[in-house]
Amino acid sequence: MQEDKFLSELKEYWLKNDIPNISFTNARFLRDLVKIKNAKNILEIGTANGFSTINFAFELKNLWNWTITTIEFSPNSHNDALNNFEKAWVLTLIKPFLWNALDIIPTLNEKYDFVFIDWMKKRSKDFLQLVWDKIEDWGVIIIDDVIKFKEKMLSLYEYIEEKKISYNVIPIDEDDWVMMIIR
Ligand SMILES: C[S@@+](CC[C@H](N)C(=O)[O-])C[C@H]1O[C@@H](n2cnc3c(N)ncnc32)[C@H](O)[C@@H]1O
Repeated sequence: MQEDKFLSELKEYWLKNDIPNISFTNARFLRDLVKIKNAKNILEIGTANGFSTINFAFELKNLWNWTITTIEFSPNSHNDALNNFEKAWVLTLIKPFLWNALDIIPTLNEKYDFVFIDWMKKRSKDFLQLVWDKIEDWGVIIIDDVIKFKEKMLSLYEYIEEKKISYNVIPIDEDDWVMMIIR
């Protein structure tokens, strides 16, 4: 399979349908982070059509013993993602949940070394609180769109200041700035 072509077609199709996938520059950045971190157990909140998930999977696929858990609460998006995982030949290595992340995260019994938060911006603080104990020491947490939607994420900023959690805000491209926290 030509991975770049597959990803371009996926993104192009969904751009026409107004699906807010991460940019290619952001995907490259996240893939490099996953590689540097040697991540083996990724948690993603906000699957949409699976574009970011497939990027992670393409990065990891030549390694062994990795999984990506990804959560989406829209049945249509979840089904589209399942189709795309199948087409990309990565379905068997992904645990896709059709669930509200707020409800399912407390029931997850694993520890993750890399967490990508790309969902309901207003609830970012709640999510960080929920997921904190599920992350390994030195695990990487990436929260997307922290500048574009900063107004919706003020409680997240207040929370991390209050808890004295160290973070970086990294400009990826004109559209996407991400927050990185090391647990
Ligand atoms: C920005 S899109 C994700 C894009 C995807 N990460 C990518 O780059 O390809 C956010 C997704 O989160 C989903 N979502 C929002 N709130 C959610 C929740 N509480 N639980 C699960 N999924 C949620 C939305 O339905 C949407 O598909």
